Amino acid sequence: MAERAPFLNTAYSAYHHRERPAEDEELTRVGPGTPCGEYLRRFWQPIVLGGELGELPRRLRILGEDLVAFRDKSGAIGLLELHCPHRGTSLEFGLIADKGIRCCYHGWLFDTDGTILETPGEPADSTLKDRLFHGAYPVHEYAGLVFAYMGPPDRTPAFPVLDTYDLPGHRLTARSPTLWECNWLQVKENSMDPAHLAFLHTLPGSEGFTDDFKELGEWDWMETPVGMVYIDTRRQGDRVWVRVADFILPNIHQFPPNADPMAQRNSINRPQATTWAVPLDDTHTMQIGYYRAPEGKEPRRGTGFGQDGSRPYQERQRIPGDYDAQISIHGGIARHGLEHLAATDRGIIMMRNMIRQGIRVVRNGEDLGHPMLRNGSPVPTYSHDRVVAGIAPAPTPEEDRQLLREVARNVVAETVKTGLATG
Ligand code: FES
Ligand SMILES: [Fe+2]
Repeated sequence: MAERAPFLNTAYSAYHHRERPAEDEELTRVGPGTPCGEYLRRFWQPIVLGGELGELPRRLRILGEDLVAFRDKSGAIGLLELHCPHRGTSLEFGLIADKGIRCCYHGWLFDTDGTILETPGEPADSTLKDRLFHGAYPVHEYAGLVFAYMGPPDRTPAFPVLDTYDLPGHRLTARSPTLWECNWLQVKENSMDPAHLAFLHTLPGSEGFTDDFKELGEWDWMETPVGMVYIDTRRQGDRVWVRVADFILPNIHQFPPNADPMAQRNSINRPQATTWAVPLDDTHTMQIGYYRAPEGKEPRRGTGFGQDGSRPYQERQRIPGDYDAQISIHGGIARHGLEHLAATDRGIIMMRNMIRQGIRVVRNGEDLGHPMLRNGSPVPTYSHDRVVAGIAPAPTPEEDRQLLREVARNVVAETVKTGLATG
């Protein structure tokens, strides 16, 4: 299969464009044993809302693995292989017990760590349950989300806390997950693509973004200790509005508020959302995470305009949203050999390189050295927006663009140096 489709340079030439280049498997495949899957498994991943673990077990698919999550009657949360180790009945039909979950078929009882507590029906002197464990992953519940670590046990990092989890004067709420019927990478790439805000999110009838975004921003990207940021910069008189969004390796993003008009902005706003794109398998992705609202302000409700496939098809055609733009890329898994990356895609290229580098570090058995994997203090992140006042326009439009880029890069450099934790 061709790596890249030919660059068509004449009209009516689709005939020369029928071969489909292969997907970039190194970045897209997430199942057990795949390089990208192993990379993603080195990080704690949110898997379900804590509030969804009630009286019934929850069947889940995460990174291509079939699992069951439950909260036993003592309150402990378990994440186990879906199929009973006896003869394979699904534990989604299991009975939640005071301690653990019991398979409905012959009553074997499993603790949250995979210990087999009982094997009723077996002879009293059977030692099977003392020798065998059921597959389990460690979990951690934090602010309404249940996280799992699905990597090698001897590499388990402490649960990482981002500096934006506990901002003074802010409340964190877990947001309902949405299911995206496509590969995780094309969902995540959206987070380093500020150009689409000026088009997709300001289409007539679209909701959620102010008219400020219609004006093309001055776009730039910079590496940070946790990944990278995009910077989306605009001028209003002598004020320069700098909007910074995080991409935190391997699959988190944070972005500042998008619904307040620029004219009303006068302070530093930390991000309103922290979002993971968790691959369920190669062609299904869950977006899940936190919303954050200043004390006294209602936290955002729902998942936002165009963030799922629930609207009628023709309405999605008339006013498409993020969901439609992303899941429709090459039918679910992007073929990079069909793309024509342009100036606005510099962030996408940086992001792919960073992810690929991480994948190769893990594959080579080396240490990732990511702040999220360091055990201890909160992880600094950089997303925020602010207005820098008193910046008179430069003499020419080109010089002014240059000036905006400099102001923006200084904001980010300063942020990386001094931190923003209490914003
Ligand atoms: S299949 Fe689960 S106890 Fe027999
Ligand atoms: Fe978007």
